[in-house]
Amino acid sequence: MRKPIIAGNWKMNKNPKQAEEIVTELIPLVKEANADVVVCVPAVCYSTVANLVKNTNIKLGAQNVHWEVSGAFTGELSADMLKSVGVEYVIIGHSERRQYFGETDRTVNLRVKAAVNAGLIPIICVGESKMERENNYTNALVSYQTLIALKGLTNDQIKNCVIAYEPVWAIGTGLVATDEQANETIGVIRKAINDNYGKDVADAVRIQYGGSMNPSNVKGLMAQPEIDGGLIGGASLKAQDFSKVVCFDK
Ligand code: PGA
Repeated sequence: MRKPIIAGNWKMNKNPKQAEEIVTELIPLVKEANADVVVCVPAVCYSTVANLVKNTNIKLGAQNVHWEVSGAFTGELSADMLKSVGVEYVIIGHSERRQYFGETDRTVNLRVKAAVNAGLIPIICVGESKMERENNYTNALVSYQTLIALKGLTNDQIKNCVIAYEPVWAIGTGLVATDEQANETIGVIRKAINDNYGKDVADAVRIQYGGSMNPSNVKGLMAQPEIDGGLIGGASLKAQDFSKVVCFDK
């Protein structure tokens, strides 16, 4: 049985003071959660949140990582830097980074390898646009994105990765994939892993759904056999809402 994992993606929202308010409210609300709980916050909030979540069941996540260890890469942070301030998870290849910041499948793979080698757990985002879904490219696309992202990792490293299936048309739009659509596409991703790395790897990898997941649709999505959790944007910015998603089974 895979343990569910619910991660909040705050994107470019909240300063350290606001982060303190949200996380302080969140801690008691999710302490009985049966899922792993992660908050991926802006870099300016890392140390505030790391201090608050010490000795709780909430883990700290980042939203990007560079693949080099150090050097002349203005504006970037390395995996070791993230580790040094208490980050344990990192979102890689979010569609907003692919769309606005030139992220490619190749750079996703470089970041994934750097994260894993430093002991961070990557949350690797894949997903199709509306046009790609309408033209039936979804299955080929998410399989390809997944396999490129994982290239060069060992089977044991892959087992520890998290994948987030996020249909681009469902992110921040209020549109949600139906439970069946999300389940089917996550099944396609798992099959691609199965066909390339074997059943024990495919059975171990946790695959989240992301895209307008919220307290009212989480139960239906999480009831699907392939869906192991969620990557939550908008609904992670309020402690009450996020805690209801995290505690979907209560
Ligand atoms: P959303 O964002 O929940 O606001 O749609 C999800 C994401 O981008 O990870």
